[in-house]
Amino acid sequence: MKGKRHFPLLAFVVFTVIFFLTFSMQVIDARKHHHHRKKGKSHKHQKSNGAANSPAPGPAPLPSYGFHPNSSGIFNVLSFGAKGDGGADDSKAFLAAWKAACNVPGATVEIPAELKFLVKPITFQGPCMPNLSFQIDGTLLAPPKISSWTKYSLFQWINFKWVHNFTIQGNGAVDGQGSSWWKANSKKFKHISNMKPTAIRFYASYNVTVRDIEITNSPQCHLKFDSSSGIKVDNVTISSPESSPNTDGIHLQNTQDVEIKYSNIGCGLRDLWGWDDCVSIQTGCSNIHIHHIDCGPGHGISIGGLGKDKSIGCVSDIIVEEISLQNTLAGVRIKTWQGGMGSVKNVTFSNIQVADVKVPMIIDQFYCDKNICKNQTGAVAISGVKYDQIIGTYSAQPVHLACSSDIPCTDVDLIDIQLKPSMRYGGFQPALCWNSYGKSQAPLLPSSIDSCLRRDHGSLVKRIAGFPEHIC
Ligand SMILES: *[C@@H]1O[C@H](CO)[C@@H](O)[C@H](O)[C@H]1NC(C)=O
Ligand SMILES: *[C@@H]1O[C@H](CO)[C@@H](O)[C@H](O)[C@H]1NC(C)=O
Ligand SMILES: *[C@@H]1O[C@H](CO)[C@@H](O)[C@H](O)[C@H]1NC(C)=O
Ligand SMILES: *[C@@H]1O[C@H](CO)[C@@H](O)[C@H](O)[C@H]1NC(C)=O
Ligand SMILES: *[C@@H]1O[C@H](CO)[C@@H](O)[C@H](O)[C@H]1NC(C)=O
Ligand SMILES: *[C@@H]1O[C@H](CO)[C@@H](O)[C@H](O)[C@H]1NC(C)=O
Ligand SMILES: *[C@@H]1O[C@H](CO)[C@@H](O)[C@H](O)[C@H]1NC(C)=O
Repeated sequence: MKGKRHFPLLAFVVFTVIFFLTFSMQVIDARKHHHHRKKGKSHKHQKSNGAANSPAPGPAPLPSYGFHPNSSGIFNVLSFGAKGDGGADDSKAFLAAWKAACNVPGATVEIPAELKFLVKPITFQGPCMPNLSFQIDGTLLAPPKISSWTKYSLFQWINFKWVHNFTIQGNGAVDGQGSSWWKANSKKFKHISNMKPTAIRFYASYNVTVRDIEITNSPQCHLKFDSSSGIKVDNVTISSPESSPNTDGIHLQNTQDVEIKYSNIGCGLRDLWGWDDCVSIQTGCSNIHIHHIDCGPGHGISIGGLGKDKSIGCVSDIIVEEISLQNTLAGVRIKTWQGGMGSVKNVTFSNIQVADVKVPMIIDQFYCDKNICKNQTGAVAISGVKYDQIIGTYSAQPVHLACSSDIPCTDVDLIDIQLKPSMRYGGFQPALCWNSYGKSQAPLLPSSIDSCLRRDHGSLVKRIAGFPEHIC
């Protein structure tokens, strides 16, 4: 809806105003500070590149807590009292380092190598001076016991809120220590019900890069971006054991302009329903480019589920290419509940290699997380979905395009599909296309794919005329 779309813009304006207020106060403070130092004791000569008018001063006024950073703008958490022994609670030290670094343009919060830092559920809040980075060379550990999480902290473990031009990088790891959550019996921990924390979440954040780090064993989702834009994820490793249910890799919601590349994601069960997607794209997402990803085990790369409880789902302009999937439930999938509204438009899946994937290509407009869901009229309309070079082996069914009986899928293109049954399995089902219109182009294997799509556009126009098109 219109209001929803305007939120990021409004938020952006608010943050920009806050940012400039903060920024101008910094400049004033820095001047005072400079003046003061002139009169005071001698001090080391500041490195200067001669840009006298640069609005970015040298080190900004130092906060009253913790130790001072050195001239490189590095704020080591050890200098703020972190123990790094894996047992002591280092949350306060992390927050203090964050607050200090937040005031300095281009600062780095350093989490040093070879140490383990236990951090409780925590929010790192901006806006900060731009180009702040979080250098994770050591390991961050979540509290291992469920009882140490309050019911207010269940949404996520590490929350970045209102940050912009921000980077997480390093050779280190973020370990959600989720094993007790995976087997948690919900009677014992009433307050957790179905809610389990995401390991790292970004909320209302812009121009964020996450690179090189490893994120493991999250109680639920590993890396989530919510109401954000300008996101880059590069060369990350995300993993949790096969016995971990509901552990999505990367989850995008109401987020635009995203690139996820050169990453390795394997989480969770292959066979059970629930969320275990390597990448999950939810409503409000557009302009998403995902490429060079190894995915498996898990549920593959998914758009949706959209339209649950008659809600509006809007997803557009998605490119998923150069992907290798091994041992996953789905390959590339679009799933919507019956009865929803909105649309999925302009999606390309190309150069997808599959090995032992149960069903490599899925459109499921009858998505249901129980055994039976009530039949409902209306659906999130799907149009402009191109599959190009989907190649490899399947273990149950090559293609399953089950479109809504009310609103067919249109402009579905199948080009160069080469899917063979996996030698390790038996009992295969033929390709299925239900109410899906489009064209196909050889090579197509199995050849039944060729006759899968419907081509008679004439009757179509009448059938979809009754449904609202511009709701997104
Ligand atoms: C000072 O900077 C160096 C790198 O230039 C870094 O290794 C060191 O940890 C920093 N010191 C503190 C107290 O942050
Ligand atoms: C932040 O980094 C970007 C890219 O390197 C640069 O263009 C921008 O000027 C930097 N901003 C500040 C305030 O240092
Ligand atoms: C954020 O980074 C982008 C690109 O690196 C740059 O164009 C922009 O000026 C930066 N914003 C700020 C506030 O530094
Ligand atoms: C990817 O991340 C790993 C682990 O941090 C690092 O060793 C490697 O150099 C990174 N590769 C690239 C191309 O940046
Ligand atoms: C994000 O980066 C783009 C360029 O990459 C820049 O135009 C924009 O101003 C940046 N946004 C913020 C909030 O810094
Ligand atoms: C489809 O999405 C891609 C990727 O975001 C974009 O470059 C392209 O312009 C879009 N095409 C249409 C017709 O909107
Ligand atoms: C929903 O509709 C389908 C197709 O018309 C039918 O096969 C199925 O039994 C219906 N399911 C329920 C729960 O009514």
